[in-house]
Amino acid sequence: MTDNIVWHNTTITSQQRQEQKGQRSTVLWFTGLSGSGKSTVANAVESLLFQKGYHSYLLDGDNVRHGLNGDLGFDDSARVENIRRISEVAKLFVDSGLIVLTAFISPFVADRAQARELIGDANFLEVYIDTPLDVCEARDPKGLYKKARAGEIKHFTGIDSAYEAPVAPDIHVKTDGLSIEQCAELVVSELERFTS
Ligand code: ADX
Repeated sequence: MTDNIVWHNTTITSQQRQEQKGQRSTVLWFTGLSGSGKSTVANAVESLLFQKGYHSYLLDGDNVRHGLNGDLGFDDSARVENIRRISEVAKLFVDSGLIVLTAFISPFVADRAQARELIGDANFLEVYIDTPLDVCEARDPKGLYKKARAGEIKHFTGIDSAYEAPVAPDIHVKTDGLSIEQCAELVVSELERFTS
């Protein structure tokens, strides 16, 4: 599909964009069940980063599915395509010199591995928002687990669609017993350790 298309090198490099911003661009790739707190923690992380003077952008599952990925559903192949597109977008944002936060369930190990490969180890941190299924289901912030249990939503992650937890996440946030702020501080301190 990319036959006859030649890559055009830009005059300004990614390195220069990062230097101008005084930071190393990185992707914080959040993964976890629906209702685990990915979006909430990612938001809190971005607020902390903003206060500290970093330049960032948050790509959130529910929002991106309204626009760019509005044509995709939730069967396995749609999820694979969802994550493929997000990986490509995150790669562009990294090139722009930003710290990128992605908050998608991203349920499959292979897709997250592919995102890491595309973006590169040096710019990628997998953040596992580890909240047990029973806790997510008890919270049920959008009422979706109830619908999934009633059979009104098909392919719901954790119910009738798989969630493959990270085996060795770069940042493992066990949310039970931690406040949102504590989760966010943990992520930011690990990010700063990684980029310093
Ligand atoms: S992913 O699996 O493809 O990474 P993504 O993070 O983009 O999922 O979207 C998940 C969000 O879509 C959930 O937080 C939930 O609000 C909504 N949603 C709607 N249907 C489903 C479903 N079948 N499984 C999971 N999430 C769903």
